[in-house]
Amino acid sequence: MTDSMGEGHHLSAAAAFDSLGADYERAFAHSAAHHASLQRLLADLAPGSRVLDVGSGTGRPTAQTLADAGHEVLGVDVSPVMTEIAARQVPGAVFRCADIRTMPPAGADAEEEGFDAVCAYFSLLQMSREDQSRLLRGLGRSLRPGGHLVVATVPLDVEDVGVVFMGRPVRVTSFGAEEFTALVVEAGFSVQWEQNSLFTPAHPAGEPEPQLFLHCRRL
Ligand SMILES: C[S@@+](CC[C@H](N)C(=O)[O-])C[C@H]1O[C@@H](n2cnc3c(N)ncnc32)[C@H](O)[C@@H]1O
Repeated sequence: MTDSMGEGHHLSAAAAFDSLGADYERAFAHSAAHHASLQRLLADLAPGSRVLDVGSGTGRPTAQTLADAGHEVLGVDVSPVMTEIAARQVPGAVFRCADIRTMPPAGADAEEEGFDAVCAYFSLLQMSREDQSRLLRGLGRSLRPGGHLVVATVPLDVEDVGVVFMGRPVRVTSFGAEEFTALVVEAGFSVQWEQNSLFTPAHPAGEPEPQLFLHCRRL
């Protein structure tokens, strides 16, 4: 997501990912850093853990890896097309099409205990800074105390910037790595491990982009 654009028509997250569908998986699912992060999360989880996958995309690699390891996975995605692909590709997990910002904190149902883990791999980038901050706090409330949060982002100091992402005009908001880490800490997490890497999507327009993975625990 490198080309900056002027004002004009930009796609919502739902519209952008509806039009990308499985092309997103082809470009991104081979990320070694993403797979390493998932292996690290698996090592932290007790058998049969309950995991919320925020912005679950096509279900691969995240939900599939966790479900194949025997965990109970709920994926939530705002794109109907991504949700349908995920449900088809990963029958061992449950997927719901919803905007995570408008959902009550999942797991906060009085009948339910919180999730054991929440993942959000690259799913905050089309939210405002305020929404990202509010969501991180809400995700903390949806976790049981001591539960795990894994969050990955593209750590760039940009706010509502127009870019072309895999040929689609979208608006992107993020934080630099230090600022994003501070936001996660302010939301009530301790950061246990972090990885910074560069990743090049397998796409004709793909250029190396920085990626930040944070593995955290709810305090
Ligand atoms: C960059 S993709 C990442 C997909 C997946 N997490 C992965 O790493 O393969 C971001 C995903 O988050 C979803 N998303 C973006 N904003 C969302 C929101 N407000 N609520 C739920 N899903 C959202 C998009 O539809 C898309 O499928």
